[in-house]
Amino acid sequence: MLIKTLINDYKTKFDKYYFGLLKANLSTSILSKAMIYASLSGGKRIRPFLIYQAAKIAKTKRSQYLRLAASIESIHSYSLIHDDLPSMDNDDFRRGKLSTHKKFDEATAILAGDALHDFAFEILSNEKTNKDPNIRIKLVNYLSRSLGHQGLAAGQSLDLLYENKKNNFENIINMYRLKTGLLFEFCFSSPFILNNQKKEIIDFYKKYGLLFGMLFQIVDDLIDENKSFKLIGKTPGKDRKQGKSTLLDLLGIEKVSLFCENEVNKFIKKNPYHFKKHSILKDLLFFNLSRIK
Ligand code: IPE
Ligand code: IPE
Ligand code: MG
Ligand code: MG
Ligand code: MG
Repeated sequence: MLIKTLINDYKTKFDKYYFGLLKANLSTSILSKAMIYASLSGGKRIRPFLIYQAAKIAKTKRSQYLRLAASIESIHSYSLIHDDLPSMDNDDFRRGKLSTHKKFDEATAILAGDALHDFAFEILSNEKTNKDPNIRIKLVNYLSRSLGHQGLAAGQSLDLLYENKKNNFENIINMYRLKTGLLFEFCFSSPFILNNQKKEIIDFYKKYGLLFGMLFQIVDDLIDENKSFKLIGKTPGKDRKQGKSTLLDLLGIEKVSLFCENEVNKFIKKNPYHFKKHSILKDLLFFNLSRIK
């Protein structure tokens, strides 16, 4: 089956679970309403899908990997609420609807982002995620490191600092690694950590996830420039208008596409064992690149 179809099928299943979890935990307060608005507003749910794929390989229990997925999607929603704020990317639309600060107000949006971030750790650190407290601590520690001053927040800070500045390849790649790559690294490797698998295997899935995430951001930048509002549900052409430092801006579309394909081919060649054993790994990487077509 096509990866796109698999993602859509999984989205329906995940959304049902996630909706139930949010409803069971949140209230009817304005803050809860803003959290629900931002997290149930129709994302592609690609990260939960990738966690599910990794969990299938790792043989992680459904009741456990679904909690990982809910946790990561809450983090993702938080990052998008804050990313859209007037002081950051200043985008009035997200997923085809008003962004959270437009639907509610700026203070509510900031707090809904904060509370979703905290909700993620509440879910992750709960006993239901794994009985072994050592594994839970490992995951909480790893996720917090992926998000903070050496992770997503650092990447977002660089993204803003680099606006309207001349920039080089290394800086841009490092910014992508931080703002987007590390969360994907967590998606692919956490199901293996949850199931207490060998370090070598976890390390491979960390590398795979990081590459996937970097390419995801590079392609997101290409999509920003080349697709319509109807297709992406956010304001197109914004990166150029805001003077964002992107690989696309530095290299042009042909060189960027070639760079992505080369990175994928190099990585597959370097890790023949894993790619031979699980053909889905290759399909997912090429699906990631095909999102621009
Ligand atoms: C957009 O992520 C932000 C990036 C990190 C590039 P997605 O493209 O996964 O957004 P949704 O969740 O489907 O809306
Ligand atoms: C978002 O990057 C990265 C994070 C939210 C961490 P973008 O700013 O390119 O995402 P979009 O295009 O607004 O979805
Ligand atoms: Mg941004
Ligand atoms: Mg943005
Ligand atoms: Mg973008």
